[in-house]
Amino acid sequence: MIDIHSHVLPGIDDGSRNLQMSLAMLRESKEQGVDLMFLTPHFYADSTDPGKFLERRDAAVKNLKEAMKDNPDSYPYILPGAEVHYFRGVGRSEGISRLCMGRSGYILLEPPFRTWTAAFLEDVRQLRDEQDLKVIIAHIERYFDQDRDLVDELLDEPGVYIQSNAEAFLDFFGRRRPLKLLKEGKIRFLGSDCHNMGQRSPNLAAAREVIGKKLGTEVLLQIDRNSLELVEEAR
Ligand SMILES: [Fe+2]
Repeated sequence: MIDIHSHVLPGIDDGSRNLQMSLAMLRESKEQGVDLMFLTPHFYADSTDPGKFLERRDAAVKNLKEAMKDNPDSYPYILPGAEVHYFRGVGRSEGISRLCMGRSGYILLEPPFRTWTAAFLEDVRQLRDEQDLKVIIAHIERYFDQDRDLVDELLDEPGVYIQSNAEAFLDFFGRRRPLKLLKEGKIRFLGSDCHNMGQRSPNLAAAREVIGKKLGTEVLLQIDRNSLELVEEAR
């Protein structure tokens, strides 16, 4: 089991507040069966310098790894990443590939929360075509109220990959569309997007249970293969 979206790193964003909480989140994930987690703190270009962000992130990863040494079998393997919040021009932004998942060419992009326009899709295509990156669209289920045509275009865009949060499958009324997209192979990755041990704690296992029951285990195996491809490139 691979969790490609999490806010486990302590003190970087609105995720884990300290080392102790990070270790608890990792322990809980491992208990749920997660073997590997990408640590993807929020990156906001308007308030953070990419160089400083990476310095802080890498220092936090080092500290966390040090703390994990005491009990290595209790934690999943970890790989660094980032959740890059969309900004106009991201498609042509120099050095944006430094924010990719590990050593891979995959970048986790958080779409705009305000109304989507064609400019957003244009940037996504530029990331793919001009920067040669594989764009992962974060938590697609949060954007189902956006312009239907733009969402559909994104879902069908070749070389653009869709990620869904575990919580999308735990919402009895909301899970219909994510389940349909998963069945159609349009959702490529799952993530917990966990932030803490409270309201937003690791929850991948519960979502997988629902998915397995509703769609069968082959869908989960496909998600695992997709995630493994990302890991192979990232490590
Ligand atoms: Fe996130």
